[in-house]
Amino acid sequence: MLKGKMVILGVTGSIAAYKMANVASMLKKLHCDVQVIMTRNATNFITPVTFETLTGNKCLIDTFDRNFQYNVEHVALAKRADLLMIAPASANVIGKLAHGIADDMLTTTALACRCPKIVAPAMNTSMYENPIVQDNRKTLQRYGFEIVEAENGHLACGDSGAGKLPEEKLLVAHILRAIARDKDLAGRKVLITAGATMEPIDPVRYITNHSTGKMGFALARACMLRGADVTVVKGHTEAEVPDFVEILPVGSATEMFEAVKSRFAESDIVIMAAAVADYRPSQFSEEKVKKSEEAMAIPLSRTQDILQYLGEHKREDQFLCGFSMETQHMLENSRKKMVKKNLDMIVANNLKTKGAGFGTDTNVITILTKEKEQAFDIMSKDAAADCILDEILAESTKKREVPVYEGI
Ligand code: CTP
Repeated sequence: MLKGKMVILGVTGSIAAYKMANVASMLKKLHCDVQVIMTRNATNFITPVTFETLTGNKCLIDTFDRNFQYNVEHVALAKRADLLMIAPASANVIGKLAHGIADDMLTTTALACRCPKIVAPAMNTSMYENPIVQDNRKTLQRYGFEIVEAENGHLACGDSGAGKLPEEKLLVAHILRAIARDKDLAGRKVLITAGATMEPIDPVRYITNHSTGKMGFALARACMLRGADVTVVKGHTEAEVPDFVEILPVGSATEMFEAVKSRFAESDIVIMAAAVADYRPSQFSEEKVKKSEEAMAIPLSRTQDILQYLGEHKREDQFLCGFSMETQHMLENSRKKMVKKNLDMIVANNLKTKGAGFGTDTNVITILTKEKEQAFDIMSKDAAADCILDEILAESTKKREVPVYEGI
């Protein structure tokens, strides 16, 4: 995801510096060119050799090192960088950056960087909460630095409180969000449903389906990386929740309907990827239903078809995409659903096709719009999400560009 990108990791003197070896390694695995700059103090906690081995690049510490590749190395690096992350950022480096002090390789480079800059503070709680540090932090934000908030936890000094460097995965997620993709969905509000609904029978049992939420989450992640403002109405799923999206957890189809309705008006694009139950038990038993020797039947009632409701109430400027899972007559049934529910697009898949459907990391999709039908080969759900979003972007932009002839 970071092929062709260059990231500078600035490491300062904090015990959390050890975590950055993992961050460097994770970035390398994403095909990123990683350049590490350490402050002198950082070398007390981790050695440059660790970073050099992991990144394949010389680790920079001294501004006046004459073994550099370029003549004015800090400027050359700053020009090449797609992003600078300073983590862990000590109170000292935050103070220096906030006041334009550039007295070592890291701070001179930071001052010369025009690319996005992320700072992740890590220090003792009393230092972190000191109003001077907090003021400096706010100053950096005012200058356009993104701050990754320090977490609460048990700190190396023995204290418990704010000041902990977040997990490596979250630091990498911040980098990905900033530079992994072009922001072609910036300014769009996207509402996505994901996972299975659960229709309770009694306090112990419920009716559900095999949906794992992977496709919905892949869409949410891709939208977020492409700059959209994303809300996910999440039914039951064990899949890893995407970072930087708003999550509204729900249980039943009725709860999902209410959550979707509450965000519908403000959404530009709605993608219904959840597997919503079509029926729910007519009665919920407050007490556990006891077994008997007789056979038993559970009366079921229809749930609200959420997508149908959205299709009936959508504005002209809103884009509505549904999913259709079939086991036979996929295209015919999906097109019927698209027309009946007044959708702009429907993504069809056949549960019987190898590599499609529930639980897999792949999908085999056909995208249907009013005029088109595009079948895709098997691909990862992440890649499928991007194909769907490319199509939504093209179609919704077309829709926005329809000329209005006044007086006709
Ligand atoms: N859907 C919905 N509300 C429901 C049922 C389905 O919003 N109560 C949405 C799903 O999220 C999906 C689309 O409708 O985007 C199609 O769902 P699917 O189960 O394939 O089709 P149904 O319309 O339920 O028809 P059938 O089950 O008869 O195939």
